[in-house]
Amino acid sequence: MKISDAVKYIGVDDKNIDLFESQYVVPEGVSYNSYLILDEKVALMDTVDSRKTAEWEQNLMEALESRKVDYLVVQHLEPDHAGSIQRAMELFPEMTLVGNAKTFNMFPQFFDIDLTDRTLTVQEGDSLSLGSHTLNFYMAPMVHWPEVMVTYESSEKILFSADGFGKFGALDYDDPEGWACEARRYYFNIVGKYGAPVQALLKKAAGLDIQKICPLHGPVLDENLEYYINTYNTWSSYQPEDKGVLVAYASIHGNTGKAAERFAEMLRAKGVEKVVVSDLAREDMAEVIEDAFRYDRMVLASASYDGGVFPCMQDFLHHLQSKAYQNRTVGIIENGSWGPTAGRSMKGILETMKNVTIVDPMVTIRSTMKESDVSAFEALADAIAKA
Ligand SMILES: Cc1cc2nc3c(=O)[nH]c(=O)nc-3n(C[C@H](O)[C@H](O)[C@H](O)COP(=O)(O)O)c2cc1C
Ligand SMILES: [Fe+2]
Ligand SMILES: [Fe+2]
Repeated sequence: MKISDAVKYIGVDDKNIDLFESQYVVPEGVSYNSYLILDEKVALMDTVDSRKTAEWEQNLMEALESRKVDYLVVQHLEPDHAGSIQRAMELFPEMTLVGNAKTFNMFPQFFDIDLTDRTLTVQEGDSLSLGSHTLNFYMAPMVHWPEVMVTYESSEKILFSADGFGKFGALDYDDPEGWACEARRYYFNIVGKYGAPVQALLKKAAGLDIQKICPLHGPVLDENLEYYINTYNTWSSYQPEDKGVLVAYASIHGNTGKAAERFAEMLRAKGVEKVVVSDLAREDMAEVIEDAFRYDRMVLASASYDGGVFPCMQDFLHHLQSKAYQNRTVGIIENGSWGPTAGRSMKGILETMKNVTIVDPMVTIRSTMKESDVSAFEALADAIAKA
């Protein structure tokens, strides 16, 4: 894939990884992007996961056409991008690693390689000329990891954005759902906790004239950039993207699930724009987390369990807590057969979150939903529909 005459894509698709970061299903794989800039000096922008070193090396050698790499810019040390640095250093003994102070501080934790005379340490705003291309470095601490930096190539106006604007899915897969669905699942699950650092990076980016974004996962973005940047602004400021309600349930024998489905029907009947129902015991947790952030409202329905809440609901809430879920309106439905405890447990976790409004009434059912429960459900549905 050609980005421009001088900039080449040399990344790889990984379509047989079981779980990305040992946690996320990637049914359509994931790409580890790496780029090569050919000028008077040759710069390599990041490497790939060690799972794919051989394939990447082949792409690199083809793109190089017998030239040598002068600089390897290390924007992120996480193994999905740094996993082939050692190989690159072996291939090009004269190559200089370009990173920041934090990069080289962390480097020995991952690699047992002597860096003497092989590094160039850059700071915010530093630039490096390759000839007609110039790399400008901007620190992006905690846009996933502390050592992250992004690079703006000013002659072609390309932003190399590290994990920012990344998306699940191999590049040879044409995603029928477009960019946002899997980019959103990637963002909230992987970067979600770091909204403030992403906001800081977006402010720096606003001062640059960007024509192309080259992320470390997923497609190169080269048109309608305002859309992607605005979407990232919405996500990183924890504002809901769409009006709607996620109804997430945790049910042991299915009765809480039935009640949740019936509650969702009530919301639809009241004209709520979008209602999504998810079974936390069975659906991809990362997908449900994505929906929790996407919509402005959420209703939790859970069975009680050993004096607390059914584990998949607890797990879900802990994920939301660790991703800094905030600024949303939430309703609670609990089920219990002898002493319902799920509601109290869920409320306890929600109360630790910033600006989460729990709407009344909290609804309790006993084992199964009865006609006598309908009025309480209607009251909660009204409150959610109006919120
Ligand atoms: C291992 C286990 C522990 C449970 N602990 C409680 C509990 O502490 N309090 C309670 O009221 N019900 C408890 N229950 C009952 C469930 O909450 C009950 O199955 C639920 O009310 C029915 O909803 P469901 O069909 O969605 O599972 C427990 C059930 C199981 C299987
Ligand atoms: Fe990362
Ligand atoms: Fe990554």
